[in-house]
Amino acid sequence: MANKLLENKIAVVTGGATGIGKEIVRELAENDATVILADRNVPLGEKEAQEFQAKKLDVTFMQLDISKIDEVKDFFDSINKKYSRLDILVNNAGIKINAGKVTETSEFEWNLTLGTNLTGTFLCCKYGIPLMEKDGGSVINFSSGSGIKGSYNSVAYGVTKAGIIHLTKTASLEFATQNIRINCIVPGLIDTQQSRGSTGSKELFEKWEKGIPMKRAGRPEEIAPMVAFLCSDQASYITGSLFEINGGSLAQ
Ligand SMILES: NC(=O)c1ccc[n+]([C@@H]2O[C@H](COP(=O)([O-])OP(=O)(O)OC[C@H]3O[C@@H](n4cnc5c(N)ncnc54)[C@H](O)[C@@H]3O)[C@@H](O)[C@H]2O)c1
Repeated sequence: MANKLLENKIAVVTGGATGIGKEIVRELAENDATVILADRNVPLGEKEAQEFQAKKLDVTFMQLDISKIDEVKDFFDSINKKYSRLDILVNNAGIKINAGKVTETSEFEWNLTLGTNLTGTFLCCKYGIPLMEKDGGSVINFSSGSGIKGSYNSVAYGVTKAGIIHLTKTASLEFATQNIRINCIVPGLIDTQQSRGSTGSKELFEKWEKGIPMKRAGRPEEIAPMVAFLCSDQASYITGSLFEINGGSLAQ
């Protein structure tokens, strides 16, 4: 992707310390955005931001737990005070717990997953979108193939990812005339700590890969360019849309 696609844009990427989020931070910064890497993992977030800065990329770390309403409010207040606006919000942070069947899932696992993935994404939209109301902007939410079709042993996760699709579509309608475009990435199996952790074993991960038409997991750098494109002015007529990136998984 050509550089300078996102010149003069202020971007927040939640969960930017590792995995898909880290690659999105890199891609946006390499396209000349000013990027705030927001994550609850402080040591890792600071370390990664310093490494990006050493490569002359405009990346700053800020601590944020998206599941905590006061932290989310304070976070977007700070962004407003410092930049007076927000152009790009990538709601990438999320957790996945394999809690067994519906009947085996504990209330704790259910509430933790909904509180992080669904409420967290909602809170970031609620407090982040107002910073876009003057000049327009772009929000990218993160769903999953599990938000579209059923999957074993992670009902809470699938429910949050289905909910994020609805949140995306409803918010896109509400802000369409203000030039705030809200879209959703729907990744399939992408090789990260989350997917390795939730499969639990190398053998199971490889079994899942065999079930993908392209016979391999995706890489975070195969997600990030789509995010940069959707955040750019080249995507000026795209809103309320889902972008499946999955090596053919949902075509089956
Ligand atoms: N990896 C996959 O196969 C896959 C597939 C479909 C969807 N997704 C989605 O893509 C997104 C990124 O996934 P990933 O695989 O890179 O995950 P990951 O676990 O590798 O990284 C997630 C990042 O989010 C941060 N985070 C977690 N909870 C947070 C919170 N409450 N507040 C702030 N930061 C928090 C973590 O510290 C970490 O840096 C997630 O929303 C995930 O559900 C991933």
